[in-house]
Amino acid sequence: MKIKSIVKGFLTFIPGVSRILPDPGTGGTISAGYCYGVWLKHLTYLRENGMTRIPHTLAELGPGDSLGIGFSAMLCGVDKYFALDVVEYSNNPRNLEIFDELVDMFRARAPRPTKGWPDFDEFLDTRLFPSHILTDELMESALSPERVASIRRAIQNLGQTVDGISISYVVPWSNPEIIEHSSVDLVISHSVLEHVSDLEATYHALYSWLKPQGRISHQIDFTSHGLSNEWNGYRAYSQWLWKIILGKRTFLINREPYSTHLDLILHSGFQLDIVLKRIQIDGIPRNKLDKSWKAISDEDLNCSGVFLQATKP
Ligand SMILES: C[S@@+](CC[C@H](N)C(=O)[O-])C[C@H]1O[C@@H](n2cnc3c(N)ncnc32)[C@H](O)[C@@H]1O
Repeated sequence: MKIKSIVKGFLTFIPGVSRILPDPGTGGTISAGYCYGVWLKHLTYLRENGMTRIPHTLAELGPGDSLGIGFSAMLCGVDKYFALDVVEYSNNPRNLEIFDELVDMFRARAPRPTKGWPDFDEFLDTRLFPSHILTDELMESALSPERVASIRRAIQNLGQTVDGISISYVVPWSNPEIIEHSSVDLVISHSVLEHVSDLEATYHALYSWLKPQGRISHQIDFTSHGLSNEWNGYRAYSQWLWKIILGKRTFLINREPYSTHLDLILHSGFQLDIVLKRIQIDGIPRNKLDKSWKAISDEDLNCSGVFLQATKP
């Protein structure tokens, strides 16, 4: 048990304390290289699973510190991008800095920055770039100076359409009606769905936004996010202790296992294209689980992450 997690949660019940506690941000999308690598990974697997064209319209859940994952997609041809978050972590000076770095990386066809999980190197060329998807012809048009300038102006004018290009940053979002039904080609999220409090409503929203043949691509991290010493130690915490740890924070982790996501995806109507599970057997053993998790399957107990893609039929 991590006393620090309990104290932090407890402090949020004291009026005014949340405002003075430092918020470290979300960590990942503060780096252009991270955003570039995340997008190349989702894109490469999407192509492997049958997506033949660069999407026109993208929605991203939980962009975090910057909108760099979406900008990466735009630099490959996406024209319309919705970024939906519950906390306004990103700001425009940082967004513009990250955007300029990304332009240089795509112009240089930079190699994917780090070998993460899941690995996708086998699909890349010898420079570790997906040139079979991002061909020179495609990139020449996506990265034309006029188009790059239009995207930059769209960043400076969020919510407006600039030469057919638009970026909407909606924070906090809760009403699914903010995006038209059947209008989106791809919904992406990276290390986000483990934080979402109403998963059922969220998966339904994703389904309704997508056009037929539209896709979702998600990486979900089931580790403790520092809330316990063992990667799945949060499953030892009782429901009442969890309420204290959660406190009054806008979000933490929802503790839902892999099978909950699978059920919701299938019940929403999606057809699965790929599921890659990261299995880790060095977490807490079954006899340490709180009673609420006693019936968990071995797969859920040991699944520390999943990368999945699915299609709306
Ligand atoms: C760990 S950060 C990940 C940020 C970024 N995707 C990355 O890869 O670095 C989790 C993000 O999910 C967001 N989030 C939490 N609940 C959400 C919800 N219901 N809808 C959209 N975003 C949410 C948080 O505000 C935060 O930006």
